[in-house]
Amino acid sequence: MSITGQTTPPRNIPQHVAIIMDGNGRWAKKRGLPRLAGHKAGTENLRRIIKACADFGVKYLTIYAFSTENWGRPRDEVDGLMRIVEDVIERELIELNEQDVQLRHLGKLDQLSPNLQRKVLYAVEKTRNNKRLVLNIAFNYGGRDEIVHAFRQMLLDGVKEDEVTPEMVSRYLYTAGTPDPDLIIRTSGELRISNFLIWQAAYSEWYVTPTYWPDFGREELRKALDEYANRDRRYGKVAASEYEETHV
Ligand code: FPP
Repeated sequence: MSITGQTTPPRNIPQHVAIIMDGNGRWAKKRGLPRLAGHKAGTENLRRIIKACADFGVKYLTIYAFSTENWGRPRDEVDGLMRIVEDVIERELIELNEQDVQLRHLGKLDQLSPNLQRKVLYAVEKTRNNKRLVLNIAFNYGGRDEIVHAFRQMLLDGVKEDEVTPEMVSRYLYTAGTPDPDLIIRTSGELRISNFLIWQAAYSEWYVTPTYWPDFGREELRKALDEYANRDRRYGKVAASEYEETHV
């Protein structure tokens, strides 16, 4: 806060923020509620964070909503998550358009129910010209699956061996056209990547907080962005100032 009581806008904003929204189940358990109540609260929080990202000037937000491994959860939970996403996509479409948010899907669409596939494709189409924020929803997404899918597609397209470069691989990923994430946030304290953006995360900065996802609000996001702003991103090189010191 400044002396006038105004919150100063964050500086050095990451262009692309990706989030592993973990801890819905534990949030619910702590309150004696069923796990799905945690996912519903997590969905409410997602609305807050989409708005906050757009307000702070983040251009791409990628959220991990359902992994290729999440099918192994109890049937009730999987069905519940599918229902939540179906309802949310339908209910929030007007709001996404009002907020000028473009929706994209990352992952395997054809394994979802025909109804959900239709709703996702409809929402993607209806928001395709929005410009303020791109929201990538990783749903039935896995990083290894994405890389295998990319290589299969390259083979089908007849890409030659010497044409296979990191740039070419990136062009075949579900995230084609999206810059790599600058900052990856994981809520609820676990220190692992969980098959999320494993190619794209090569030089991402990480921020892990013990806060469960439903409680990770605007102020917590602001803290993560402030910490990111002070990071020294070297991409495997040395800082320019250090190089000058050793080469005088
Ligand atoms: C991780 O918490 C969360 C998930 C696997 C699901 C996240 C999904 C939502 C927030 C639903 C909203 C999504 C959209 C696209 C509307 P966990 O269940 O692993 O929690 P735990 O580790 O505490 O058990």
